[in-house]
Order: sequence, then C-alpha cells, then structure tokens
Amino acid sequence: MSTAVTVITRDQMREQRDLAAKVRRHPARPASYHIVTLGCQMNVHDSEKLAGMLRDMGLSEADTRGDAELVLFNTCCIRENAQRKALGNITWLKELKKAKPGLLIGVCGCMMQQQGMAERILTQYPFVDLAFGTGDFYRLPEMLLRLLESGARVVDVGEDPSTLFEDVPVYRTAPHKAYVAITHGCDNFCSYCIVPYVRGRERSRQAAQILKEVEALAASGVQEVTLLGQNVNSYGHDRGEMDFARLLQLVSDTGIPRIRFMTSHPKDLSDALIEQLATNSRVCGHLHLPVQSGSDRILGLMNRRYTAEKYLERVRALRKAAPHIGLTTDLIVAFPGETEEDFRQTMDLVRDVRFDSAFTFVFSPREGTKAAAMDGHLPKEVATERIERLIALQEGITGEVLASLAGTTQHVLVDGTARRREHLTGKGERNISVNFPGDPALIGRIVPVTITGAGSNTLRGRIMKEETT
Ligand code: SAH
Ligand code: SF4
Ligand code: F3S
Repeated sequence: MSTAVTVITRDQMREQRDLAAKVRRHPARPASYHIVTLGCQMNVHDSEKLAGMLRDMGLSEADTRGDAELVLFNTCCIRENAQRKALGNITWLKELKKAKPGLLIGVCGCMMQQQGMAERILTQYPFVDLAFGTGDFYRLPEMLLRLLESGARVVDVGEDPSTLFEDVPVYRTAPHKAYVAITHGCDNFCSYCIVPYVRGRERSRQAAQILKEVEALAASGVQEVTLLGQNVNSYGHDRGEMDFARLLQLVSDTGIPRIRFMTSHPKDLSDALIEQLATNSRVCGHLHLPVQSGSDRILGLMNRRYTAEKYLERVRALRKAAPHIGLTTDLIVAFPGETEEDFRQTMDLVRDVRFDSAFTFVFSPREGTKAAAMDGHLPKEVATERIERLIALQEGITGEVLASLAGTTQHVLVDGTARRREHLTGKGERNISVNFPGDPALIGRIVPVTITGAGSNTLRGRIMKEETT
C-alpha cells in the first residue's frame, strides 16, 4: 500500500469547475439528483460536497429517489450489515430503472474502495452507470461528462484514496450548523477496522483553509461547527504546523458560537485538549471517546495502543478539570478470542466510567483486516447474549445520568419541532436531545433551558428566558 498523499492542485480543481460548466450546458444532462447516504458523519459531509458539485452542474435536488434522474449511493462498509444494506439498496434500484430506463445510477463511498469491489460492480451490477471511490469524488464533473458524452458506464475507482483537495462547493441543508472536515483517512490500523483501507492515509487540512471555512460559516450565521475526522485529536501530526488543541483555540477565535468535534482517540487525548474542553466556553462539554473494550488483552489484539487503566486515567484527568463534561463511547463485543472474563472487564469499565451513552457493536469480520484472520471467532449466540447484557447495563446508566441532570441549565441549539408539535427539540452542550415547549421562531438559535425531567434518551425542560446567549 502506498504511503504518499496526493495533493490535488488548484489548477486541477479549476479544470473540474470548467468541466462542471460543460455538464451544465450538456443537452442530455439529468435535471435532478437524489443522494442516499449510509455510514458516518464524514460520509454525510461528503454527500454535502457531492450535492454542491451536482448543483454547480445545474441539477436540482429531488425529494425522493423515485423523482430523481440521477440517484447516487454514498456507501459504508464498516460492518457487514452496512455493506449488505448498500448492496440491497443498489439492487432495489434495478427495479426502479426498469420502470424508468433513462435513470442514471451512481455508487460511491467507502464500499467502492474495497478490494475487488469495482470489478464486482462491473460484472454483477450492469445497471450501475457510474462508480467512484472516496479519493476521487472531486472529479465528479469529469466523470459525469464522460458518461454523458460516451453513453458508456464509468467505473473509476483509484487504488489509493489518499487525496487532499480544497474548494469543492458544499451544499449544507441546515443553516445553523455545519460539518467541517479537518482530517481525512486514518493511520491507526485497529485490527478490526476497514477505514484505513478505504479512506487512505491520515492527512490534515491546512489550518488556514479550515479557519477560512469556519470564518465564512460564522459570517453567514452558523451557530455550531462540528470538526470531523476519524481521529481528530491527532490533527496536525502529519504537518507539524500545530496540534488539535491549538487548532480548537484558533477555530474558537473566529467567533463561531459553538464547536464540537469527533472522533477522538484515547491515545491522543492530550492535557492541552483537556484544558480546551475545561476552559474554552465555545467548545461543547461533550467528548466521544471510543474505548472498544475494557480488557487489556483484547485492547492489545485490537491494536488500540492504550490499556484500560490508561483510559481511566485520562477520564479522571478530564473529569477533574471539567466535571460538567458528558462522555460517550463505542464498544465492540465478541472480538475474536474474547472470554467471559474479558467481557466482564468491559462491563466493569462501563460501570466505572458511567458514560452518557454508548454505541455498541458486535464484532464484524472485514475482509483484509488482521482481526478477520484471527482465531477464536465467537458464535452468534454468545455475541448476542453479551451485547444484550451490555446494552441493558448502559441503558440503566443512561437513565440515571439523564435523571441527575434535572435542575441544570442546558444551552440548546434548537434544531426544529419535536414529535409533539408544540415542542421544540435540539441538543445541549452534552449532545443530549432536549425537548421543550417554545416558539418555532427560535429554530436555529441557542436558548438556555432548565431541565425538568428525563425520558430514556432525551431530556425535557422549559426555556429560562427567550434570549440567545
Ligand atoms: N474513527 C472512529 C470511528 C470508527 S467507526 C474511531 O476510531 O473511534 C465507528 C465504530 O465502529 C468504531 O469505534 C467501532 O466501535 C466500530 N467498528 C469498527 N469496525 C468494526 C467491526 N469490524 N466490527 C464491529 N464494530 C466495528
Ligand atoms: Fe478505524 Fe481505529 Fe482508525 Fe477509528 S482509529 S477509523 S477504529 S482504524
Ligand atoms: Fe462507514 Fe466509511 Fe464512515 S466505512 S463508518 S462511511 S468512514
């Protein structure tokens, strides 16, 4: 595998914009698009860029895939069910295409970047018109033009997705909050994980580019940015320009009211980052810090590069400096060779830390990863039984944590109306949803809400005073 990062030049990006103009004028250009996005926030953000480029080419957004002339699938392959879902969706489109022969179908994202997938699409999915990977999508104008001019399918997946590019138009739907990618790819090679293979080498955007983007967002009234990366807190290791804590300070200096970030790796949780979380009032009091397992033996096999004790030490340091902070995590059960004793250590760690919430996953073997080839894969029944115990434990803790927040004030960025129509909903600093009665005119604003009660995953409250903070 190559270790080089390919920086796409301004001239290359300019060329794509010229090609976008040609697509816009092309008589056979589709009039509308619909993007289906699977996977994580990075994929959601990539879809915002795909939408930006398609709009630049003159296409408008269709509300449903049935209404669109071009349907793009931005896929995920993190676990087997994610991949199954992607392939199922594509097969479903085959039927739609029978009814609507002019329909163009595109597939992109992480699944396409897997070894052998491009060939598989070529042979098994002949109704797919366009396929590209995670490192090439800036060339969408070029690929769409090729498709329109030749009428032949375009399958163009580069072997190494480690590209770095700027100046792609982004179409963001919410006016009050925005994703901003700060790093791409991952070099950690956790033994179970496919991401380093499908997203390429870890590479940080230049700080000046990130700050320019956040400044523009702040100027347009955006209230909250979420800085994205597979491992945000290793930001800058590749450039040597600055670290993540310094970047956070500079992002907050732009005047953007709120900053979130994800995902952080425990091995890179520095004291300087803890200090930012503790003292910078623009940085939200929430840290997503995936622990994966509470057993040192399993953490070693996972290649996570910390021990349970090291994780707990970082949590203690964080809570000492910033007791108000909510912690969330990711956990994997039934990693190859996981014994009942290893699993019990995970349960103990969860009891010890008391996370606000946790994403729990059953280990899913991904072809080409080290863990897939390890001995000791566990039967499904064992995995199911363990994940159920873990979920029940965490649900109890979540209930207690939420109940303990009664009487506190959460500053909620209002996203919209809740299911109960007269109620608004949004997230407080700790990233927990809060529902409360209020005027829809407050959507997009940050309001102080006193917490009056808790459901299983959400808080209830009432507005302290109808002012932005
Ligand atoms: N970069 C982030 C998130 C990666 S994917 C991080 O390092 O934390 C999100 C989560 O999916 C991971 O934290 C892990 O818990 C889970 N995951 C990844 N690969 C998996 C696999 N093969 N089987 C089960 N869960 C997996
Ligand atoms: Fe995957 Fe590990 Fe990288 Fe996260 S840090 S993306 S789990 S390899
Ligand atoms: Fe999935 Fe790719 Fe994200 S594999 S989780 S969409 S980085």
